[in-house]
Amino acid sequence: MPGDHEPSDLRPLLERLRPERRGLAALTALLVLAMGLPLAGPVLVGRFIDSALAGDPTATLVGLAAFFLAATLAGDGLQLLVAWLSVRLAWRVGNRLRTDLCRHALSLDLTWHGEHSPGQLIERIDGDVDALTRFSSTAVLQLAGNALMVLGTVVVASFIDWRAGLLVFGASAVASVVLILFRQAAVPYWDDEREVQSQLYGDLEERLGGLEDLRANGAGGWALHRLHHHSAGWWRTARRAAIWGDGSIAGASLAFAAGSVLTLTLGVWLHSQGQLSIGSVVALFQFSQTVSDPLWQVSEQLADMQKAAAGTRRAARLLSEHSSLADTKVDADVDGAAAPLDDGPLSVDLAGVELAYGDDPAVLSGIDLHLAPGTKLGVIGRTGSGKTSLGRLVLRLWDPTAGAVRLGGVDLRHVPAENLRRRTAVVTQEVELFRANLRDNVTLFGAVEATDAQVSAALDEVGLGHWHRSLAAGLDTELHGGGDLSAGEAQLLAFARVLLVDPGLVVLDEASSRLDPITESVLAQATARLVAGRTAIVIAHRLATLDEVDQIVVLDGGRIIEHGDRATLAADSTSRYSRLRSAGGAALVAGVPS
Ligand SMILES: Nc1ncnc2c1ncn2[C@@H]1O[C@H](COP(=O)(O)OP(=O)(O)OP(=O)(O)O)[C@@H](O)[C@H]1O
Ligand SMILES: [Mg+2]
Repeated sequence: MPGDHEPSDLRPLLERLRPERRGLAALTALLVLAMGLPLAGPVLVGRFIDSALAGDPTATLVGLAAFFLAATLAGDGLQLLVAWLSVRLAWRVGNRLRTDLCRHALSLDLTWHGEHSPGQLIERIDGDVDALTRFSSTAVLQLAGNALMVLGTVVVASFIDWRAGLLVFGASAVASVVLILFRQAAVPYWDDEREVQSQLYGDLEERLGGLEDLRANGAGGWALHRLHHHSAGWWRTARRAAIWGDGSIAGASLAFAAGSVLTLTLGVWLHSQGQLSIGSVVALFQFSQTVSDPLWQVSEQLADMQKAAAGTRRAARLLSEHSSLADTKVDADVDGAAAPLDDGPLSVDLAGVELAYGDDPAVLSGIDLHLAPGTKLGVIGRTGSGKTSLGRLVLRLWDPTAGAVRLGGVDLRHVPAENLRRRTAVVTQEVELFRANLRDNVTLFGAVEATDAQVSAALDEVGLGHWHRSLAAGLDTELHGGGDLSAGEAQLLAFARVLLVDPGLVVLDEASSRLDPITESVLAQATARLVAGRTAIVIAHRLATLDEVDQIVVLDGGRIIEHGDRATLAADSTSRYSRLRSAGGAALVAGVPS
């Protein structure tokens, strides 16, 4: 295990600890004090017994007792202080790491996110950091403190009698070796357990997300089966981990018991030889027992440390992942300086573009497309023909595997990400609503700057004004995720967001679900307002939407099989578009006639 520690593993942690240097130093000093004080206890008890047996005056006894009380109370008080300070420190550092991990994960490209389930991500950002925080808040200092205490116990016991010191040391050493060996054997099983756990959470998250589909299609049994499968796996790995972990406890207990018995025997023998007072025998026996407590804790903390180390390693790995959509600054394979996009409608150019997701075969190929600023393009094609993928390219949610995508004449790889997000906007097929109030859903938690009046005006403009005014709490109305609005209404809400951003290019990926005729006509009107004065790519599943566009592209199997002026195509009875129109558009969702 220690073999695969890379020096960079700890760097994310150390970097975030650096601002806390002073607090850490003060904490260490307090800790040494807090751990040293309890050592006085057994010595004072021994003195007390010897004084009592020797018939010393009551004042001496009371003094010793008071001293004992003061040392114990002070020790406890200090421990409390140390605990408070270390928890505070650990949370500060942990939260810093959490924030950085979250920010980093958000900056990674969608391919990366496609390969990692949300459950895994939660485990990385929260679970791992939690293990780290827990360890560094309570355990790391206690680990040092307890090690100090064991050492101190051996030293003080040696002062009373060197042979006893040796015995206490021997018992602690044997117990430690047993603990460490068993724990080390358990490490791979703990790692397995954590991996199985993150799979289970990942799966669970996915199943819960698709609850409606699962239930509607009667796939609940299958989901349950998966849950049982993962739970059984968890149980198996957890059991193996526990056997090794608990085995270490049993072995160490035996070593301690033997140590105590030997120390007591030695003490009694030394006393019978007249070399040791009864008080010292009691003190030694107490020491042989007190040493076990810190060692237990050390063993627990070692386990926490393993988990924390694994967590830190994973955090370091996540932080070292780079987005394949690196910002211009680090884009080595593209020459030229960063160039922000101009204001106003943007031209769109795709030249020899090909796109493949990961190692899969290309889903778009040979795409050449030019749109003058302000052009409205309608894109149609069978499901899976690559319409959404085309939209993703012009928004640089993915980079093409070949060819170039330009907006306003600038290669997207030169455009700073922040500028691109401000100058383009998208309404996706499935608008994701958040469990937040209406205002936050429209402005995406303030990412889009707008006053309440502007938000209301935008809602009015897309046709949600009536609905908005009917809400008692207005913009403060809490939306409960997707439940409150239909797919069409959710899209309208996203339209309002786009109106507030006022981009130069908008990609509208129409919801493929069927809408009621009223929503459909509202949506068509809102679409017309949305695309006015901008370049627009409208991926349509309904013919009515296409009445407003200037040009039509028909995609099939990732290629453009027809591209032309909408009016011209409509007039040409042999064009796919006009055949589609004469078929009443019913086939639009099902597929384009060929
Ligand atoms: N994130 C992804 N990772 C891997 N493959 C993907 C991804 N997104 C889409 N694909 C694949 O790319 C192809 C084109 O998908 P795309 O979503 O662009 O089609 P579409 O025309 O928008 O379909 P629909 O009409 O159903 O929305 C499909 O074969 C799909 O399985
Ligand atoms: Mg699509």
